[in-house]
Amino acid sequence: CGIVGYIGYREAYPVIIKGLQRLEYRGYDSAGIALYDEKDIRLSKTKGKVADLDKKAKGELALEGTLGIGHTRWATHGEPNDVNSHPHYSNSGDLVIIHNGIIENYEPLRRELTKRGYTFTSDTDTEVLVNLIEDVKKNHNLKLGKAVQVALNQVHGAYAIVVFDRTKPNEIVAAKLGSPLAIGVGEDEFFVASDASPFIEYTNNAIYLEDEEMAILRRGKKIKVRKIKDDSLVDPYVQELQLNLEQIEKGGCDHFMLKEIYEQPEAIRDTYRGRLRVDDGIIKMAGMEDNLEKFLQADRILIAACGTSWHAGLVAEYIFEDLARIPVEVEYASEFRYRNPVITERDVLIVISQSGETADTLAAIKLAREKGAFVFGVCNVVGSSIAREAHAGAYTHAGPEIGVASTKAFTTQITVLTLMALKLASAKGAISRTELQQHLAEMEAIPGKVEASLTSDSHIKYIASLYKEAPNCLYLGRGYNFPVALEGALKLKEISYIHAEGYPAAEMKHGPIALIDEQMPVVIIATKNGHYDKVVSNIQEIKSRKGKIIAVVMEGDTTVKELADHVIEVPETTEALSPLITTIPLQLLSYHIAVMRGCNVDQPRNLAKSVTVE
Ligand code: G6P
Repeated sequence: CGIVGYIGYREAYPVIIKGLQRLEYRGYDSAGIALYDEKDIRLSKTKGKVADLDKKAKGELALEGTLGIGHTRWATHGEPNDVNSHPHYSNSGDLVIIHNGIIENYEPLRRELTKRGYTFTSDTDTEVLVNLIEDVKKNHNLKLGKAVQVALNQVHGAYAIVVFDRTKPNEIVAAKLGSPLAIGVGEDEFFVASDASPFIEYTNNAIYLEDEEMAILRRGKKIKVRKIKDDSLVDPYVQELQLNLEQIEKGGCDHFMLKEIYEQPEAIRDTYRGRLRVDDGIIKMAGMEDNLEKFLQADRILIAACGTSWHAGLVAEYIFEDLARIPVEVEYASEFRYRNPVITERDVLIVISQSGETADTLAAIKLAREKGAFVFGVCNVVGSSIAREAHAGAYTHAGPEIGVASTKAFTTQITVLTLMALKLASAKGAISRTELQQHLAEMEAIPGKVEASLTSDSHIKYIASLYKEAPNCLYLGRGYNFPVALEGALKLKEISYIHAEGYPAAEMKHGPIALIDEQMPVVIIATKNGHYDKVVSNIQEIKSRKGKIIAVVMEGDTTVKELADHVIEVPETTEALSPLITTIPLQLLSYHIAVMRGCNVDQPRNLAKSVTVE
């Protein structure tokens, strides 16, 4: 979910609505806003998008006031409807709250509060929390900040909350555990939000609250940050933000996803910039250099991640094993944490996460740390929870990724992981200096080759128009391109709602081949340097069953061209780096199909960009 709050001298409404729109990638099944207009709280909320909220609020509110909070939701407790949307009032109507996360013990708290006469209009854990705060406040005659603190010490779970009191409309209280919360510190004004994007045009000064910290933001006063557990005062670190507005706007594209697909040459360049020197055969990655012994002594590398990041992990498995000759195990973070895995001090865990906030991935880190393993984070969002929790790490430098379906985050993750594998391979002596130089030179050629792959866009759009009504689609690849097939299928199902499956090409004959008929499009990756002949045989198997073949091939290919219904050519590269190229047409294919089907590409139904719940 996304949170925005404002207290200061500006009209709060436009600040909050614009902020919510920027945070909509975090959840968008309902939205709401509460303003204080010098007399009372004005609240409006609705099922649907921030645009629906804007329309509704303009119809029913005066929209005045210099204090307010807003929320865009991804439902956890209670279906997405008007009542369950945030903000939520306390029973007296004095307190109003927005909340991101899950209060795990909300059932017993709700029972207890019901006994004490509280009533609830929604199914949410949030309404329980706001009434708990009210109860504590009344019973002990406390100020809001203190009441929030006492209440939070009674809840289990994860949260980021922002709350205010209409009887004291000069302050906002914000607190966090698990879910992120950034505070923008302006002159005589404060902003609070799930990330800094809602306030970057107003201030560059941000404080990222740590877990179990709360902030009291008073009009015209200095910010106060306290520890929730013991009430001690914290001297907050004010960070200067690097983000600029242009980075988070669509820049002429119809969708963020398309903009982000097209940003990949630059994003990959930004990711390796300053990290590699081809002539000297050097890779500079401080997080690895400082801990090289850990990597060299490791018995194996574990990788934990979710979604697209997990696919990047699978690509990394091939690279690390192939080049650095070290065993790798890749796990879904959600399985890893719950299956009592064997982890020792001689393990290195690499976690991969675009947002750096995924709850299961974060929990995997905690588990590995407890067992004494060394944890290395590959994240995109600077200062994110995962980046902070890992022992060391490397950022991907993809820039903000707003489209829910991950694109440039994936290719930049592969870029970082490839550099890591190469660095380890060279430190272990598994590859020669010349080989390293060759790999690095090829890495430097990748942005140009990605750019060349993007020129197939209109051809891919044409192919999309032929298959946009298909109910199913199969994606096949081998070796390094098997994870690319998985990722291609994920992209299609995420944004177009066509059922799609990724499979290792040779495994097709053990099941999916039964599905092939003249209705079934099969996307197959046939790179020249990776088991090419075997893939050609797989293509023949599909053809003899009348499947429709869309093949991604390397420039100059003639064999597959004769067999396939459509070919998409991409520039040739080494097999190890080929996922960076072969992924591009698959992203474009899913994008065009989704647009043609009238789907909301940037905000597909039921999904969220940053999954901070388990
Ligand atoms: C969500 C997003 C995916 C993403 C996954 C992992 O499901 O919709 O695009 O791959 O979370 O997120 P992370 O931020 O950890 O990479």
